[in-house]
Amino acid sequence: MTGNAFDALLAGVKTFLAGYGGEPARGFIEGIGWSMPPRLLAPRGLPCLAHLGRAAEIAGDDARPLVRLLRDRGHEFHWGQTYTAADFGHNFMDNYGWLEVFGTRGHFANEAMAGGFLILGPHIEYPDHHHVAEELYIPLTGGTAWRMGDGAFQPRAAGEVIHHASSVSHAMRTGSEPLLAFYLWRGGPLAARSTIGSQRA
Ligand SMILES: [Fe+2]
Repeated sequence: MTGNAFDALLAGVKTFLAGYGGEPARGFIEGIGWSMPPRLLAPRGLPCLAHLGRAAEIAGDDARPLVRLLRDRGHEFHWGQTYTAADFGHNFMDNYGWLEVFGTRGHFANEAMAGGFLILGPHIEYPDHHHVAEELYIPLTGGTAWRMGDGAFQPRAAGEVIHHASSVSHAMRTGSEPLLAFYLWRGGPLAARSTIGSQRA
């Protein structure tokens, strides 16, 4: 591992995404300009980082190096939360957080695409929400149920590709295992707070 955790993180993401060739992932991934200037952000940890140890144990082989990097050096990164306890309660806030690797506010500057990680602890529901940006998710851990629009919650395995079109509501419900997922956002305001509640395009 290189001594620079940020370069290692970006390189790890690039290597991980190289394993995804089918649509719609390919269109997203080919749209990533990898020559991104670094952005200096202060380290900011969150309680949800405690779930990275278990995530590293259950992640698939292709994702394990990346998850281990997050587990071992996660506190060097700048984790964020968009919501407050007023939205979903204190337990949610203790078990939720994201890390923008690249984008308009992440560790690397990219105005066209945002990419990063979401953590949810076990037995957490992230209720219906939506946003203008089109989104791709790849869970690195399995066991979480996902729903889109007014559909039913469906379990999604690690490595599946989940596509949310612009402004389509979606929700996640973890089971006994934590969720670690990689996301990409494009085509909308990349730092927008999601709107809570259901909506279909
Ligand atoms: Fe989303």
